[in-house]
Amino acid sequence: MESTKYLLSLFLILSFTIFLSAQQPGIINTYNRPSTSLNGYWKYIVDPYENGFYNYRLEAFENQKDPGKNAFFTNSKPDNPSELIEYNFDLSDSLQVPSDWNTQKEKLFYYEGSLWYKKSFDYELEEPSNRLFVHFGASNYKSDVYLNGKKLGRHIGGFTPFSYEITELLDARDNYLVVKVDNKRIKEGVPTLNTDWWNYGGITREVKLIETPSTFINDYFLYLNPQDPTRIQGYVQLKGKQLANQAIEVGIPALSVTLPLITNNEGRAKVDISAKQIRYWSPDDPFLHEVSITSGNDKIKDQIGFRTITTQGSKILLNGSPVFLKGISIHEEKPFKGGRGNSEEDARQLLSWATEMGCNFVRLAHYPHNEHMVRMADQMGLLVWEENPVYWTISWKNPDTYANAARQLEELITRDKNRASVIIWSMANETPASDARTEFLTNLSLLARDMDPSRLISAALEQGRYNNDPLIRTIDDPFASVVDILSFNQYIGWYDGLPDKLSQIKWRIEQDKPVLISEFGAGAKYGLHGDKLTRWTEEYQEFLYEETLKMLSSIPQLQGMSPWILVDFRSPRRVLPRIQDGWNRKGLISEEGKRKKAFYTLQKYYQSKD
Ligand code: GCU
Repeated sequence: MESTKYLLSLFLILSFTIFLSAQQPGIINTYNRPSTSLNGYWKYIVDPYENGFYNYRLEAFENQKDPGKNAFFTNSKPDNPSELIEYNFDLSDSLQVPSDWNTQKEKLFYYEGSLWYKKSFDYELEEPSNRLFVHFGASNYKSDVYLNGKKLGRHIGGFTPFSYEITELLDARDNYLVVKVDNKRIKEGVPTLNTDWWNYGGITREVKLIETPSTFINDYFLYLNPQDPTRIQGYVQLKGKQLANQAIEVGIPALSVTLPLITNNEGRAKVDISAKQIRYWSPDDPFLHEVSITSGNDKIKDQIGFRTITTQGSKILLNGSPVFLKGISIHEEKPFKGGRGNSEEDARQLLSWATEMGCNFVRLAHYPHNEHMVRMADQMGLLVWEENPVYWTISWKNPDTYANAARQLEELITRDKNRASVIIWSMANETPASDARTEFLTNLSLLARDMDPSRLISAALEQGRYNNDPLIRTIDDPFASVVDILSFNQYIGWYDGLPDKLSQIKWRIEQDKPVLISEFGAGAKYGLHGDKLTRWTEEYQEFLYEETLKMLSSIPQLQGMSPWILVDFRSPRRVLPRIQDGWNRKGLISEEGKRKKAFYTLQKYYQSKD
């Protein structure tokens, strides 16, 4: 009898845990959904030994039937003066959310490990039948989330949204949301141990509560058929108890569209609208259509641009016309202040600098940036490359690593698939060619194409020597046959010789595909001047840009570029005193917003492309 009872409770705990950790890609379009912000100051405890997560036998408290008060997620306080509890969130210091911890506290600048956050809040549902979700814009890297002492789930990946339902666990008063964030780098991770950017830790993007009706609009995708720009296609997906035969209405006033739909048994309704008078989205006219989707008690609005992006031989066609991508690469760092970027102002500043340089395209490297960036690009008319953080040498043969990379890509596409500005999904950056790697990336690209038939696939590959001739370069990477746009990084004149080598280089690219140079560049300390072959001077960087732009124009398939990089950015790999001091200096703008000479070289080149 005893054993059956034990097995039953075990089954219940397990199923409850499984139910609770049914994490889902973040609720779509939280930008426009009414919500309650949990941003602001959160209490925190630094826990390098994970003392609040494991007992001294390294058994996780959350796996115990009774985790006990030493588990930090119980947010416990002593009941009497004799009780021993060796932590207290409410007596602890605070950190801002959203933000990384590294740039908030000097002592946390280099910290990589676990840190606990706690936020208390009161909340009463507007309608008793409604549901409530807690939504995170992103949290780097591994986040264990608890509400009122119960585990909601674990999210892995530092750059994509996730949410948990908390309806069943909610109290009207004194709810406590506890998040253990661990940004330790691991070999099997995505990214892996080694990167050239600062591993900012923490809850780096907004946290909000989202209340929905019991059945609500969980996902939708509206896009132009790439082969027929008069057809808007896609779907609307409901979530909840009432899924089958539900009425949905899609409204696009600018197109006098009011489309009634009925869901199938899975709560999904296909969209297929024929519209002749579409005002297409483009950098010259970034027109966004007001779109409304209504179903039952749920209604959401969005601003969606309609455009097609395709390739034809070595041309990239935007709305059927060739476009040259005048781009720049960007890291997600706060202009002037440093630290992880996360606000509308950050996005506006970064994208305004790109526009000032004459760009119509930005490469958001090497991971999904915050949603403000792509929403701003939609409004400003900038074309966008988004990338999954499969960077350098990932554990290609590890199925968990693949599942992790695939989920991060899925979360990215789920969030941004309705953004007209986003034209390219990049699968990876500078990954060493091998069968396991190519299979890994090919599977990711199949996932992306399955989720989104309307965009182009690429990856930042590496160039090689043609027939071993150091002066003739080519792309012989097997993944080049999978991508729509052939992109590669090249650092001739910086990691490979001096800028005067560039004029000797010939390119022999045999693929009949558009070529995009995803990176080239040179380091320069703002204000350091000298002759053009003296490293770290602005003249060296300027000379490299001049020579590179000349060399690249010899590539017949050249359709764009995104030089490395818009602004100097932090990297623990860059330690040269008085020059780098923890900054990668390949920016065209310094961390203080000062424009280097090469900024104007690229600006002039892009003006010549108009
Ligand atoms: C690499 C890499 C970047 C890096 C850059 C550099 O190509 O993709 O992440 O910062 O080169 O070395 O500066």
